[in-house]
Amino acid sequence: MNASDRPVHPVALPEGWAPASWRDRPALQQPQYPDASALEAVLGELRRLPPLVTSWEILALKRQVAEAQEGKRFVLQGGDCAESFSDCESGLISNRLKVLLQMSLVLVHGLRLPVVRVGRFAGQYAKPRSADNETRDGVTLPAYRGDNVNQPGFDAASRAADPRRLVKGHARSAMTMNFVRALIDGGFADLHHPEYWDLDWVSHSKLSDEYHRMVAAVGDAVRFMETIGGEQLHNLNRADFYTSHEALLLPYEEALTRQVPRQWGWFNLSTHFPWIGMRTAALDGAHVEYFRGLRNPVAVKVGPSVSAEQLQRLADALNPDNEPGRLTFIQRMGAANVETKLPPLVQAMQRDGRRVLWICDPMHGNTESTSNGYKTRRFDNIQGELERSFDIHAALGSRLGGVHLELTGENVTECLGGARELTELDLERAYRTSVDPRLNYEQSLEIAMLIVRKQAAIARPAQA
Ligand code: PEP
Ligand code: CO
Repeated sequence: MNASDRPVHPVALPEGWAPASWRDRPALQQPQYPDASALEAVLGELRRLPPLVTSWEILALKRQVAEAQEGKRFVLQGGDCAESFSDCESGLISNRLKVLLQMSLVLVHGLRLPVVRVGRFAGQYAKPRSADNETRDGVTLPAYRGDNVNQPGFDAASRAADPRRLVKGHARSAMTMNFVRALIDGGFADLHHPEYWDLDWVSHSKLSDEYHRMVAAVGDAVRFMETIGGEQLHNLNRADFYTSHEALLLPYEEALTRQVPRQWGWFNLSTHFPWIGMRTAALDGAHVEYFRGLRNPVAVKVGPSVSAEQLQRLADALNPDNEPGRLTFIQRMGAANVETKLPPLVQAMQRDGRRVLWICDPMHGNTESTSNGYKTRRFDNIQGELERSFDIHAALGSRLGGVHLELTGENVTECLGGARELTELDLERAYRTSVDPRLNYEQSLEIAMLIVRKQAAIARPAQA
């Protein structure tokens, strides 16, 4: 962004805003609760429960996002499409954290930049749906909207929206946070010893030699740092892992929106880094209204139908003072669209000298169905959108400052391709997602290595 721009730090609430001012706007994707008084009772309980994160963590993250906007950090954001209450389990949580930390180590070392680590978890319990209802064999029921709302089973009791689930979701989020904070405090042996990483897949890749060299270099660097200073390369501490979710269910988010001592304004204390999904990003909609008054750093998903003018108006609404660290756009155009759709948006932000962080979500524009009925994504398309995005930003004098991925630490088979070249037949073996297909452990680490490879190629244009 323009170095001449003055840093502006707003110190007052935007005009007309209150935690409940969204209620005067159309709120899409909200469940219909049959019993309004039961919902009110639950919201009263949530308003009294302790928050999940703190204001100082949120402000620290905002400073890190500001540094990422200046090219001094890279953001790694990832996790499940949807968490489920039954997935709040130690093995799944620690494996997901492990793959994110291993990826971040590859990125720290390969990009020579500190990485901002943001989990898509501890609250990712509500999903936007393309239709309000689902019909099977002539029976129509409300769509499953995530475990914070209802249950996936196809019967009337499962699909009824139950406000008590919001309290359970808050508790599951707190348990997840608690375990993640404890793991990070304690340190993962696997991080200090890349020889413990599960890297059999590397030899299946066409880039096997390159990947082996990368892993060996990360291992050497970790050992060197720990030998000379007793210091850790990744310098983890509990302040260094952040959470995010799509802040979709506005009554829940409002109940966790708080003022804190010795700070002005309002914080969403259910997560550090909430985002607005593509389906609820209308300028005059309830979600944009709710987000505009928060002091958190905020993100918006930007799909191929968004025009440059719409993006400018979104930036006006969400970051009128051009505050550093405040606004991130998560571009999710699809491999087929990114070339044509992204450049005008990036240029519009540059023309106005706006501070935004661009993160690429190469997942949601690349979803397709196989002939055997699975919702999947091709690794080639994910890699393709990501690599083209790096090139497009570089060619425009902008910078892609992060990546947003749906991933798991498990050995699932949900996305096609990758080093082991998973096929449609492999999908049957370990297809476990209830919503969108995720990168598995190996595919996730491979994406981290491909990002390093791509950045190196951009930095050496003569040989590329
Ligand atoms: C998601 O991130 O799971 C999602 C629904 O994304 P989008 O809003 O980009 O479609
Ligand atoms: Co998804």
